[in-house]
Order: sequence, then structure tokens, then C-alpha cells
Amino acid sequence: MNILILGSGGREYSIGLAISNEQKHKLFFCPGNGATDRLGTNINIKDYNELAIWAKNNQIDLTIVGPEAPLTDGVVDIFKANDLIIFGPSKDAARLEGSKVYMKNILKKYNIPTARFIETDDLSQAKEFIQTLTPPIVVKADGLCAGKGVIIATTHEEAINAVGDMLSGASFGDAGKKVVVEEFLDGYELSMFAICDGKDFILLPAAQDHKRVGDGDTGPNTGGMGAYAPTPLVDDALYEKVKERIIRPTLDGMQQEGAPYEGVLFIGVMVVKGEPYTLEFNVRFGDPECEIIMPLLKTPASELFYKGATKDLSNLKIEFLPKYAVGVVMASHNYPYGNSDVAEIIVDEMVDMDLKENSHISFAGVSKEDDKLFATGGRVLVCVGLGDNIKEARNRAYGLCGQVHFAGKKCRSDIAYQALR
Ligand code: AMP
Ligand code: GLY
Repeated sequence: MNILILGSGGREYSIGLAISNEQKHKLFFCPGNGATDRLGTNINIKDYNELAIWAKNNQIDLTIVGPEAPLTDGVVDIFKANDLIIFGPSKDAARLEGSKVYMKNILKKYNIPTARFIETDDLSQAKEFIQTLTPPIVVKADGLCAGKGVIIATTHEEAINAVGDMLSGASFGDAGKKVVVEEFLDGYELSMFAICDGKDFILLPAAQDHKRVGDGDTGPNTGGMGAYAPTPLVDDALYEKVKERIIRPTLDGMQQEGAPYEGVLFIGVMVVKGEPYTLEFNVRFGDPECEIIMPLLKTPASELFYKGATKDLSNLKIEFLPKYAVGVVMASHNYPYGNSDVAEIIVDEMVDMDLKENSHISFAGVSKEDDKLFATGGRVLVCVGLGDNIKEARNRAYGLCGQVHFAGKKCRSDIAYQALR
């Protein structure tokens, strides 16, 4: 097949790498990064109508969308109107991520477990509800805020101020003109991913992300500094609960809403006393979670996405490798505070055969010049290790980190600690 992948991060690189390893497809990335052009061809077309025409002219058989922005902008609707096969939710269905108010109302309407909440654009109504809660209290802006729209307030006053700043437009502009206020759930967090075709779904091995920049979960939030899967914190009973109580009713509900859900459903799960609650939905893979789930697939990735895009998942028998994966993000030194200088990336020649066979890099914030790769800031790449257990996978991931050099590189040293305690 000719396959087009939209996006430019490590997530998109890892999807491309999995498909490239099948050795029978031709890959295109839009816009891709400095390393994806080793896997295929980078193109740069910003207008989705133009891109759809390009896809038709270039006989693209399948398009896979990485990030949320093209989805909430309606790229899937545009491609489908052009009779193209594309894996991802429609603009309507993408509101599960694009609007927290929409998402919470779907959860409530279909009795899906989540934190008790109100949604409002009225400060006095928010105040009244806040007084009924015991801090910490969670305040969320309705719209997309690049992962910064959630405030965990430690006092009633702080919660009220956060709501006031959002509603006035001061903190997040229009994205904060409506808010969700909800109770704090105290438990452990999981990233769960379901591949959905509107009616059927396949649940992938559960992962844990590491959102804070520093060891021991300290410092500010990031897009994610590392992840591992499958996590031993999930047993079969919990997988079943997530399927029956969260994913099944969400897919049935979205069908009833007239917005059948196709694509990756990312469920941010909080487990409280053994029971799963929905923290949030995203309409795409997590990054870096994708980078560690892709290498665990035994079923060809292209088949999984193609069947997802053509409402054919009920005919797929999914298989995973009996392995664990750990991914350590290497970021530039100013991440997540600001930009960093561009720096050349040197990867030592692999002499350790064990490491060579059981680890690899997914490239993200990189550019290419004269065949050399440069770190361009932010999250630069992910070192992924595979193993028969988490410890082995982690040792390999960190072994690979030791072979990668660029000025100002930094990474957490405790990825997967939750599983090794
Ligand atoms: P969200 O973007 O909604 O996932 O929120 C970002 C992060 O805030 C989550 O990954 C959680 O760590 C935290 N969070 C969100 N909602 C809650 C809640 N109700 N209780 C506890 N933590 C929460
Ligand atoms: N790693 C979490 C996310 O992609 O949102």
C-alpha cells in the first residue's frame, strides 16, 4: 500500500517504523521530521483540501493521522468526502478531545464512570459547587490548551480564582470561556488505547506515562518524558472493566449521537480502589506511549489501521509479542520551559549485539542537513528498549541513551519506576 502519515513527532515516526519493518509499503509523511525521510518521503502541504487532492493523485491507499489538531480541524471529513481511506475520528467525534464539556456530558449521559463535576460559564454557579468539594479541586478549561488547561487547586479560593481567570479569558482565551469543575480522584493513572472502527474495538496493552520533567515526578508537566508497557498494574479484571464500563458504552453512545467513533481512543484512566474512572479522552495515540506500543505489535500495524479505517476490526485477530517495552525521552535542556540551541546528534556505532537487536530510537524534534541529524529542541527522540521483563527493557533503553549524544541532552533516570518498586 501507499501510506500517508500526518504529523511530525516521535509518535508518527514510530508508526512509520512499524510499517516500514513490514517491508512492503511505500510511506509518506506530512510534514514528517528530519528522520522520517529515512523511512519514506516527506511532503509539506498545509491545506487539507490540497492534501486530499495530492493523496488521490498519488494513489494513497491509507492515511493515518497522528496529532489531534488535524482531527479537530476535520481532516477526516475532508478525506472521506474525497473517497479516501483515512484512520481517525470525524470532526464531530473528535470533540471528545476538543471539548471537555462535550466529553463530560457524554460520560454522564451514558453512565460512564468519571469524577463528579459541573460544567458552567457562570462564576457564581462554579463557586457554589466548589464549596461542596473538599480540596484538592480540579478546574479544567473546556477547549484545547496544549496540555496546560487543567489546574489542581489546593484550596477553595485557588479553585475559584482559577475559574475566574478562565471565564474572563485571561488564562486561555476562548478555550476557557466554559469550564469543568470536578472532584479530585486519588489513585494511579494509566494510559489505555483502543483502536476503534465505529462499532468494534481492540484494546492495546496498558501503558504508564511520566508527565513531570524531573525524577520522582517533580517539576512542571511535559508532553511525557517516558513510558512503559504493558504495566503490571493492570490485570485481566481491570481490562474487562475498562472495556465494559468505559469503551463499550462510549462507542455505543457515540453511535447514538450520530458521531460513530473511528480511530484511536486514548483513555486517561484513574484507578481508585481497583475501579477505573475516565479522566479524559484523547482522540489520538499518546506520545511517547505510541513509541512503546508499536514495537509490541505482532500483527502488522498497517493491517490494524487499515481494518480500523474500513470498519473491519471484527475480522482481525490481534497478536502482541510476549515482551515489555520501555521508552526514555531525551529532550533538550530548556524543555519544557523554552527553546534550546540546535545541536548535532551523534549516535555511537552499536557494537553490543544484544543492545543492537533489542533497542531502537524513535526520532521527534530533529532536522536533517547533509545527512546529519540535529536536535531542534523540545522532545528530541525516544530510546526504546525491549525485553522479557520490564527491568531488562529498561536497562536496554538506558543503554541506548548512553550511546546518544547532543549538547544539552537530558532525560529522566527513573522511567518505569512504578513497575519496579
Ligand atoms: P487531563 O488533561 O484532563 O487528563 O488532565 C491532566 C492531568 O491532570 C491528568 O493526567 C491527571 O494527572 C490530572 N487530573 C485531571 N483530572 C483529575 C481528577 N479529577 N483527579 C485527579 N487528577 C486529575
Ligand atoms: N503522553 C500523553 C499525551 O500524549 O497526551
